[in-house]
Amino acid sequence: MDVRVRHPRIHSKFITMIPYGRHSINEADIEAVVRVLKGDWLTIGPLVEQFEDVLQNVVGAPCITVSSGTAALHCAFAAIDLSQGDEVITPPITFIATQATAALFGAKIVFADVQLDTGNIDPNCVESLINSRTKAIVAVDYAGHPAELDELRAIADRHGIYLIEDAAHSIGSVYRDRKIGSIADITTFSFFPTKNLTTGEGGAVSSINPALLEKAKRFSRQGLIRNVSEFKITDQGPWHQEVHKFGLNYRLPDILCALGISQLERLSEFKSKRQDLFNFYSAELSNTIFVSPVVRDYVEPMWHLFPARVDPNRRKMIFESLRRMNIGVQVNYIPAYWHPVFQDLGHKRGECPNAEKFYLSEISLPMSYAISEAHVKEVIESLKSI
Ligand SMILES: Cc1ncc(COP(=O)(O)O)c(C=O)c1O
Repeated sequence: MDVRVRHPRIHSKFITMIPYGRHSINEADIEAVVRVLKGDWLTIGPLVEQFEDVLQNVVGAPCITVSSGTAALHCAFAAIDLSQGDEVITPPITFIATQATAALFGAKIVFADVQLDTGNIDPNCVESLINSRTKAIVAVDYAGHPAELDELRAIADRHGIYLIEDAAHSIGSVYRDRKIGSIADITTFSFFPTKNLTTGEGGAVSSINPALLEKAKRFSRQGLIRNVSEFKITDQGPWHQEVHKFGLNYRLPDILCALGISQLERLSEFKSKRQDLFNFYSAELSNTIFVSPVVRDYVEPMWHLFPARVDPNRRKMIFESLRRMNIGVQVNYIPAYWHPVFQDLGHKRGECPNAEKFYLSEISLPMSYAISEAHVKEVIESLKSI
């Protein structure tokens, strides 16, 4: 299958290139969606719970589905009652949604530096940032490699604060024999097309704590309460429902849940292809100018990205050369506090030196289930030609 796609953002003209990430949709996926389109429930139907049930098996904790990974994070912060004046500790090497969704509750974003090898939040940098206003530590499993969850969990427990895990990259990953989704107080997932599985747009929240999950769910469903025993208004009829706290509509429709259920059937296939690609790149790139990612011996990542590292002085040249050769490389990510929205709040370059070193040398190579052998070969040949 040809996985070259039109990429409107890369140049002003449409061009084709081997993308850094791409979905894989098969006939079973299409049939599953079409069945919903022909049925009675496009949304709030039975497939929502069905998807949540199968997801629970995959992530090892009860789940709710939502409309994106960003929505999932927003729900997670709602569930811990994040408010004005609270502080949240996050790593800078992540997509801005990790911070934006907390900042929208009026929380102060505090940046903890990352480990130079994994790009994940460094537990040694976290504790000194905790004070009486700190409400949560947020770990991001960068590229699919789980963060140091036991160390972070211990710090969170010592200070009576929450551990939230942004697992947008890491559904299907395993940390010390435990499934990602079953470890933090709340874990969030994304099903964007470049991710490990897709529903087009979509996401999920998992939690081992039923009260937190219920709060996340309520926030994602307009804050509506239908449970009679919780009603404050008691003189209405059977139609009654009420709101105690504002929420939003972050529901994932049945159409997309059907796609998710079907995709989940291939999750282990997706994982092993991504692992094979990881192994192949790592072997081919040894003794080249590209340094492959490290893997801790107690994790089994499901690789969302292949974040190679190069000489920071040559990164731009390498990136531009590869793009000219139609290899859809990416850089993940600019340190979050470099965004003008954080500079306006007084954050300065230099705040997290490892994150900056990591960013300046990082270049993500095409990594997806859908990539063909011919294109993998083309990627490797292009990399070696530099
Ligand atoms: C680390 C991280 N968190 C959150 C998100 C947000 O997910 P979504 O695009 O599904 O809203 C992304 C998406 O790229 C991400 O990479």
